[in-house]
Amino acid sequence: MAITQLIERNGTEQDNEGLTNEYKELVCSLPKERGWRTQNLYLYQGFWCQPNEIQATMSAQKHFQAHDSDLMVVSVPKSGTTWLKALTFAIMNREKYDVAKSHPLHFSNPHELVPFLEYKLYADNKIPDLSHIPRPRLLATHIPLGSLPGSIRSSKCKMVYICRNPFDTFVSAWHFINKIRPASYGPLGIEDAFNMYCRGVVGFGPYWDHMLGYWYESLTKPDKVLFLKYEDMKENPDYYIKKLALFLGWPFTLQEEKTGVVQEIGNLCSFKNLRDLEVNKKGKGAIADFENKNLFRKADVGDWVNHFTPMMVQRLAHIMEEKLSGSGLSFKVV
Ligand code: A3P
Repeated sequence: MAITQLIERNGTEQDNEGLTNEYKELVCSLPKERGWRTQNLYLYQGFWCQPNEIQATMSAQKHFQAHDSDLMVVSVPKSGTTWLKALTFAIMNREKYDVAKSHPLHFSNPHELVPFLEYKLYADNKIPDLSHIPRPRLLATHIPLGSLPGSIRSSKCKMVYICRNPFDTFVSAWHFINKIRPASYGPLGIEDAFNMYCRGVVGFGPYWDHMLGYWYESLTKPDKVLFLKYEDMKENPDYYIKKLALFLGWPFTLQEEKTGVVQEIGNLCSFKNLRDLEVNKKGKGAIADFENKNLFRKADVGDWVNHFTPMMVQRLAHIMEEKLSGSGLSFKVV
């Protein structure tokens, strides 16, 4: 057997570790492309994902029952999920915990407090008992709109969605993947990664379909989906913290606004504060098996200028123009 075939075969086997036979068969029947973190990504229901994500998504589709009071944090990977989880948790629980004292965000990574359906609850072929989670439940997912468990869309459960300009999202994803990729795969070059990204071959991509799905849903159902952009939130955090609280059903009182509760939550969830906490410097396993510190890099808007060549700018700008034109969705890029 040729060495490339051997690597290919071993890689696929490694990707499929932990899958039941039923899922292995399904995964093997799907279109595949070279992956970022795993050997391959597979096209499942029109989006690209890792085999374990397919198994978990299918399990969630089959078993997850949304309640009207549920709140879901939904995002494109690397677009500010950690931040939005922290903010949502802090807003909802502000009467329960004192920010200045022993707040759970001081000791737990936001991903532990707001678990993903696909990486935690339904991972590893689990069918979890969610009855012990106090309501309203605060959960999260990267699953595209069209593949969500049906009850999320049919119930009154609300979704807060965050995305980010694709230039910075790409840079963030590329750095992140190189930190958590198995050493045996070697580093993923920026050109290779960029080619895959431009073709939409990236976890839960194509990202333009992901964003547009939730974008249109937020336009037709503004009470159900709040659509947020990372850049806007960075520019005016207080405004968006208030908007988020109102949407979630926990609006700030005038008294709270006067006494600086909005800013207190903003500071608690700020990049610098979260990054410097012991749990986020030394902890591990908040999402999968990697170190929590990898979730915090620079949090700058416009870092792409340090990585993109003029050709890359032109290519991605063209893709954005083509994919988003007429939708009303656009991004600030610097
Ligand atoms: P950079 O790689 O550009 O620094 P996600 O949480 O969806 O994985 O997104 C990761 C990106 O959000 C990273 O961007 C990370 O640094 C940034 N980030 C993490 N915590 C943040 C916070 N509290 N506020 C703003 N950005 C944050």
